[in-house]
Amino acid sequence: MSAPVCVVGAGGREHALALALARSSDVVVTPGNPGMPATTAEGHRISVTAAPADEVDAGLFVIGPEGPLVDGLADRLRAKGHLVVGPGADGARLEGSKAFMKELLSEAGVPTARFGVFDRADDALAFLRSLPGPWVVKTDGLAAGKGVLVTDSLAQAEADVVAKLSGSAFGPAGRRVVVEEGLTGPECSLLVLCDGRRVVPLAPARDAKRLGDGDTGPNTGGMGAFSPVPDVDDDLVDDLVVRSVEPLVGVLRARGIDYRGILYAGLMLTPDGPKVLEFNVRFGDPETQAVLPRLGSDLVELLTAAAAGRLSDEAARPAFTAGPAVSVVLAAAGYPHQATTGEVIPGLDPGGQLADPVPGVVVHHAGTRRDGPSGPFRVAGGRVLAVTAVGTDLGEARTRAYRGVEALVWDGAQYRRDIAGGDRVVGVAPVEGGGA
Ligand code: AMP
Ligand code: GLY
Repeated sequence: MSAPVCVVGAGGREHALALALARSSDVVVTPGNPGMPATTAEGHRISVTAAPADEVDAGLFVIGPEGPLVDGLADRLRAKGHLVVGPGADGARLEGSKAFMKELLSEAGVPTARFGVFDRADDALAFLRSLPGPWVVKTDGLAAGKGVLVTDSLAQAEADVVAKLSGSAFGPAGRRVVVEEGLTGPECSLLVLCDGRRVVPLAPARDAKRLGDGDTGPNTGGMGAFSPVPDVDDDLVDDLVVRSVEPLVGVLRARGIDYRGILYAGLMLTPDGPKVLEFNVRFGDPETQAVLPRLGSDLVELLTAAAAGRLSDEAARPAFTAGPAVSVVLAAAGYPHQATTGEVIPGLDPGGQLADPVPGVVVHHAGTRRDGPSGPFRVAGGRVLAVTAVGTDLGEARTRAYRGVEALVWDGAQYRRDIAGGDRVVGVAPVEGGGA
C-alpha cells in the first residue's frame, strides 16, 4: 500500500480536501479536527494526528492554511525531499503582504484596483481623499480575512487608516496599509493548480464574505459558497487564466520563485472587465467545500503532478460534475469578533454527520471539539461547520444544504440565509457598511 497523503490544517477546507483525496488514498490530517476520522466507501482511511507535519510519513503533503506557508513549512518539507502542494515562503509572500502582491500584479500587467501602499497616516489620508469612493483599506499583513474595510463613508475609511496604522486595530499586520479604489460587480473565486510553470483551473466558485444576508455586516473568512457560477463560463475562465494568472506566474518565475501549489484568484467582474482583488496562496475556505465534491478527476493525481512540476495537457481541464454544490457555514455567536464557544451541537451522529441524513449532504467540520472520543460535538471556534450539498440544480443543492443547516442550529449559531439564493447567484457588489 502506498504512503498516505498528509493534509496540514484543521478547518472545513481541510476536511473537504481529506474527503476528496480519500477517494484514492489514505489520508492523515495534522492537526485535523474530531469530525474528520472516517473510512470512505472505497475503503480508504482518514485519520488525524497531533504529530507535526514533518514527522508524518506521507507521499504527498497538502498545506491548507496560509500561516504555515508564510512561515516556510513547504520549504522545510521540500528540504527533506517531500512532494508538497503549497509555495515556499518566497511565493507565500503574495498572501503574506498585500503590498507585495499589488506590486507583482502591476509588474505583470494584471488588471486590478488602483492602489497606494502607506506606512504614514498623512500620506494615506491624502491618497484616500484623492479617490472618488467607495474606499477600501486593507492591512498589509495577514488578518484572517478580516483586515479589509470597504465603505461608502470617507470618514469611516479615514478612521480605519488611523486605527490600522497605529497598530491598535490589527497589531503589526496593520502597520502598513494598502488603500484602494472600491470596485463594484459580482465576485468570483478561481482556484488554479500551478506546477511552477503551467496552471490548471478548477471550477469557479462564488463566496459570501460578509457576515449578514444581502452582503451586510463585517467581512469574515467566508460564510458560504457555491459552484459553478452561472455568469462565469469556461470561456471566461480561460480568459481569466490568460490575463490574470499566467502573467503572474511569469513574474514569479522571473523572480526565481518556483510556485508549486494553489493560486486562488479573488476577482471582481466590474463594468470595465474582470479585475483581481487579491491572490491567495492556498485553497479557499469555504470555496473548497463547494468545488471539490464536484470534482470527477483524481485529486491525488492532480496535486501530485502540481507538486512534481509535471501538470500535463490532460490535466488542463479536470472533470467536474454538472450538478452544482452549495456550502453554508454555521458560525459561532460573536464571530468574526469574539466567538462564543462550548455549546453542544445538536443533530450530529457519532461520526459527525447528520443524524437524520439528507441526500447529497456532507457536514464539513471546522471549529468543533469533543470531550473524549464519544462525547458530543461542541462549538470550538469561529466558523464551526460547513454544510455542503450537491444536487441536480442549484435550487436542489441549496434546499438540501439548508435542510442540513436547520438540523444543526444551536443557540446563538449564525448563518446566512441567502447563500446561492436571490442576488447571490448573479452577484451584487457589497459596498455599504461593514468593516474590519
Ligand atoms: P481581499 O481579502 O483583498 O479579497 O478582500 C476581501 C473582500 O473585500 C473581497 O472579497 C471583496 O468583497 C472586498 N474588496 C476587496 N478589495 C476591494 C475593492 N478594491 N473594491 C471593492 N471590494 C473589495
Ligand atoms: N473564502 C475566502 C478565503 O478563503 O480567503
